[in-house]
Amino acid sequence: MDACRALLMSLGVLSLILVPTSARDVPVKRYVVNLDSPPEEHFLPICQDPGIQELIPILKKDAKDMITSVVPAEVLPLLEVLTADLDQYLPQPFAGEMRGIANCTGIDLGQIVILNIVYDLTAFCTSIVAQDSKGTIWHGRNLDYGFGDFLRNITVLIDFQTKGQTLYTSTSYLGYVGALTGQRPNTFTITVDERDQGAWWMNALEALLNKQASLMSFLVRETLAEADSYDAAIQRLAYTPLIAPVYFIVGGANVAEGAVITRDRTSALDIWTLNPAQGRWFVLETNYDHWVEPPAHDNRRAPAMKAMNTTGQDGINASSMFQVLSVHPVLNKDTTYTAIMSAAQPQVYNTWVRWP
Ligand SMILES: *[C@@H]1O[C@H](CO)[C@@H](O)[C@H](O)[C@H]1NC(C)=O
Ligand SMILES: *[C@@H]1O[C@H](CO)[C@@H](O)[C@H](O)[C@H]1NC(C)=O
Ligand SMILES: *[C@@H]1O[C@H](CO)[C@@H](O)[C@H](O)[C@H]1NC(C)=O
Ligand SMILES: *[C@@H]1O[C@H](CO)[C@@H](O)[C@H](O)[C@H]1NC(C)=O
Repeated sequence: MDACRALLMSLGVLSLILVPTSARDVPVKRYVVNLDSPPEEHFLPICQDPGIQELIPILKKDAKDMITSVVPAEVLPLLEVLTADLDQYLPQPFAGEMRGIANCTGIDLGQIVILNIVYDLTAFCTSIVAQDSKGTIWHGRNLDYGFGDFLRNITVLIDFQTKGQTLYTSTSYLGYVGALTGQRPNTFTITVDERDQGAWWMNALEALLNKQASLMSFLVRETLAEADSYDAAIQRLAYTPLIAPVYFIVGGANVAEGAVITRDRTSALDIWTLNPAQGRWFVLETNYDHWVEPPAHDNRRAPAMKAMNTTGQDGINASSMFQVLSVHPVLNKDTTYTAIMSAAQPQVYNTWVRWP
């Protein structure tokens, strides 16, 4: 931990942004993935890190337990079809990357594939995009998983580079090739919140096998890699067919660039944007459509909004956003990490593991 903090300090990352955290809030380790190498090798720097290698036996066991508890037995044959012919069904670099991770961790390729789909569909979260009084856009998120205990140990921050330059950055887990939180420097930031639509496994896998739809986290990574403007990112996220409904929360580098995209599988149902001129200086999404009241048993929206209102537009910055995301129950026992980003100040991007 101290070595990690020291490394970040030496990179000048923490010196630029001082977020007051408690001793238990540990900034995650940062790695570089070289996109110019073959996909099979992309994640080797993470996988081969001795600190991560140590955790692989626990990861193996936890991954197996998680899969048994969340994946319905009737879809396992479909998953086998998918895994047996990965290149046929999943685009590059994802197929090659999963093979490389399976090879390096010794975890069965089928399990790696399942993990990637499970993470995509079970993320409970809070995401906020806000514009401060000076016009700077801030984007913060908590990622909550009911089975997140082992994920905290394998949470990493990755700079995806080409020719030595960071094309995009993402918070991820070892074994996970998609992106649920990411930034294209000076352009946009994206987070994904789950939008629960009941029984989705069969539909989702059929769509994947028919190559009619994308995994949400793959779309985010492709958008980070390929969209060269905020508007291009919004278009892509709003209108690319997906295997399941989801919320995309997007922040830009310019004034008023911030939106919550409510998606069904085919297209955007709603795009709710910042409108600072009319007083809407932040948009906030948990896991419920913003136009309906969240259920009483899971109302993280009201406490988060109250904390934003109390902080006020003059008071919002990286550290006050972190504080908002630390208010109970926005921060809860399932929260695995908090990430803070600001597309116009890419060096701000950091992620802290949150222990219950
Ligand atoms: C699997 O790993 C071994 C070394 O551990 C390497 O020689 C081999 O090329 C790898 N295979 C793939 C498909 O990445
Ligand atoms: C996480 O790692 C710590 C050591 O750093 C270990 O004590 C703990 O058991 C691990 N937790 C899980 C759930 O893997
Ligand atoms: C926050 O402020 C907005 C705008 O003034 C108001 O509509 C909303 O009810 C407030 N929410 C909470 C939870 O304080
Ligand atoms: C962030 O805003 C808070 C008020 O919400 C203020 O106390 C703090 O000094 C600010 N931090 C920075 C680094 O500007």
